[in-house]
Amino acid sequence: MEYTNVIFEKDGNLAIVKINRPKALNALNSETLKELNLVIEEISNDKDVYAVILTGAGEKAFVAGADISEMKELNAVQGKAFGTLGNKVFRNLEKLNKPVIAAVNGFALGGGCELAMACDIRIASAKAKFAQPEAGLGITPGFGGTQRLARLVGEGRAKELIFTCDMIKADEAYRIGLVNKVVEPEMLLDEAKVMAGKIIKNAPIAVAQCKEAINRGMQMDIDDAIAFEAEAFGLCFATADQKEGMTAFIEKRDKNFQNK
Ligand code: CAA
Repeated sequence: MEYTNVIFEKDGNLAIVKINRPKALNALNSETLKELNLVIEEISNDKDVYAVILTGAGEKAFVAGADISEMKELNAVQGKAFGTLGNKVFRNLEKLNKPVIAAVNGFALGGGCELAMACDIRIASAKAKFAQPEAGLGITPGFGGTQRLARLVGEGRAKELIFTCDMIKADEAYRIGLVNKVVEPEMLLDEAKVMAGKIIKNAPIAVAQCKEAINRGMQMDIDDAIAFEAEAFGLCFATADQKEGMTAFIEKRDKNFQNK
């Protein structure tokens, strides 16, 4: 399928998705959000995609936020609908049955920081900058920022960032646990591909089950969470890839997973 504001490419078992409105620093308008949702659906249904890298087109921005020119004249009902749309898309990304690495190549502000947080893993270019500037625009974060930032970096740090609207550099984002690693800008995509390559070598169904167990388990109490893990663990034993992975280990040979 052809998209206007999103570039979707496949490289073997890897999908690379780029938000593509560089003139507006990849700001997310409704059209882009809807296209991103279609891409997520396409990837979800594609058995050959084992991992996803999400990044921004151009030199400057990952995503500089939700589109302010679209939001400016919204009333309360329309504002809620726009937030609901963004939240639906980001939740679909978070629940996607494949791991997603955000390669944060520049500004990740407002909805951009929120988009990165809806991914599983964040690698930042040393040039990347992060902020939740919404309160300075007269709104709250609207695509999950009040919730995911607090869960990722803790309540105190999330409140500081959201109340002050401070913009932080990549090394500070790393220090507080907002990103997994920081790399030189020219190495960003390569680093993301190396990490994706390591993931792709493993059994895709097992990786998907790990993702779901972590995501769901983090929202449960520990007893329910370990019960959920037991379900995921058990389910893997119904896969051909579990037999292959363990047989290959015993036979001291390379494994050949089939995503079955
Ligand atoms: N929405 C719409 N357009 C945006 C945008 C946004 N979030 N961010 C940047 N742009 C546009 C600018 O309007 C400008 O367009 P024109 O060339 O037509 O004037 C173009 O992108 C380039 O931007 P700048 O000229 O401002 O570039 P700069 O280098 O001087 O500054 C910046 C870069 C610091 C990122 C600055 O653009 C900026 O502060 N952007 C807004 C960041 C922001 O507040 N994001 C949060 C939005 S609210 C939100 O996301 C709500 C939510 O939670 C869902």
